[in-house]
Amino acid sequence: MKPILLRARGEENSRSINTYLRLGGYAALKRALIMDPADVREEVKNSGLRGRGGAGFPAGVKWGFVPQSTTRPRYLICNADESEPGTFKDREIIHTEPHMLLEGIIIASYAIGANTAYIYIRGEFWTEAEILERAIAEACRKKYLGKDILRTGFDIDIHVHRGAGAYICGEETALIESIEGKRGQPRLKPPFPAVVGLFGCPTVVNNVETLACVPHIIEHGAEWFAGIGRDVRNSGPKLYGVSGHVEKPGVYELPMGTTFREIIYEHAGGIRGGKKLKAFIPGGSSCPVLPADRVDIPADFDSVAEAGSMLGSGGIIVMDETVDMVWALENLLTFYAHESCGQCTPCREGSDWALDIVRRIRAGHGQPRDLEALERISRHASQGMTICPLGDAFCGPIASFLKHFRHEFEDYIARAEPLPPKKLPVLPVRSDRGPFGI
Ligand SMILES: Cc1cc2nc3c(=O)[nH]c(=O)nc-3n(C[C@H](O)[C@H](O)[C@H](O)COP(=O)(O)O)c2cc1C
Repeated sequence: MKPILLRARGEENSRSINTYLRLGGYAALKRALIMDPADVREEVKNSGLRGRGGAGFPAGVKWGFVPQSTTRPRYLICNADESEPGTFKDREIIHTEPHMLLEGIIIASYAIGANTAYIYIRGEFWTEAEILERAIAEACRKKYLGKDILRTGFDIDIHVHRGAGAYICGEETALIESIEGKRGQPRLKPPFPAVVGLFGCPTVVNNVETLACVPHIIEHGAEWFAGIGRDVRNSGPKLYGVSGHVEKPGVYELPMGTTFREIIYEHAGGIRGGKKLKAFIPGGSSCPVLPADRVDIPADFDSVAEAGSMLGSGGIIVMDETVDMVWALENLLTFYAHESCGQCTPCREGSDWALDIVRRIRAGHGQPRDLEALERISRHASQGMTICPLGDAFCGPIASFLKHFRHEFEDYIARAEPLPPKKLPVLPVRSDRGPFGI
């Protein structure tokens, strides 16, 4: 497959609007603007495009939830937070062809009837935020943005909103709170953002990669897009970010449903130093780990779900035979315990508690009942026990590490030594004197 989303990678000045126009950019927007918004939504629905941000929800269906008869403003938000370990594909689109993303945002805004769109970008992405701001200024000058764009009567403004470096702000409702100037904590759903979102108004939140697909769907048609992947439920080009123990880590654009074996061994150059594959996390750190014998499954939404994990964002973390899986889980839990926003007790307490237990096991003081406790935590902080799926994001890894690599945890526990008796803290001798010895 010829690259679609990263077609301009390596081209000189690929970020400038002139290069984009030379490659046929903004032609899809012109086509969309003479279509009825409902037809644009239908085209995207028929393409089978599923959200690339993690949950894989069909984009056209989500756009259809936005009430069309409302008098309230409608908003589109592009989620460029990309803070999950192992995920680094959205920034590649922004770096390569920011105008492709802008075109997707304008078409999506037109389709849902929004006149204002936001790009919520992770605070640490200084360069990417500047690239986007420059691209927006160029698009304004050429009348692709602003009032009455291309003399069609459609107004659209895009604002770049920088986050402050919290993983939870990638969750769509925490992101909305954050744009509103509040602390980024998820909201209860329903109501879903498509009905009550930003400033209480109907809002669609879509991932960068999802929106970058939209101009291509409008330009080449839904059928073309659906024909690229495995089937219409798993369609289109997909950016796979491969990290970890491979020879050539990086972002690879391939048809949805390429097998993990092909991605890891052919495109990413195989396991570093000729070692053996032990395990891989298929879609960013929140997805359950899979052992090496699942490497032949296609990397698409449905196949990965059938194998007991998730395609998530498509960030594949590869682990070779030398990896200590207890250490790997400790590493993941350190992230989640730090990033839990603290709103829900099972997530706030459970992530810290699980981390403490795994740390203790690795320090050589584990007890047989620890594995039971980990399993209990992973049951009690997931699947609807928390407001947002961050609970599932750390519980999925716990359950899957124990399912596939339990023996490594048991080995640690079998070699464990009892904890040394707790020493009582030495209290300072009480003095009659106050501060400064007076
Ligand atoms: C803790 C957490 C972090 C998330 N981070 C991101 C993110 O960085 N980027 C993203 O697009 N979606 C992220 N999501 C998913 C969003 O909530 C939302 O489903 C997504 O932006 C919708 O876009 P899509 O339908 O195009 O995939 C996150 C979800 C959770 C629970």
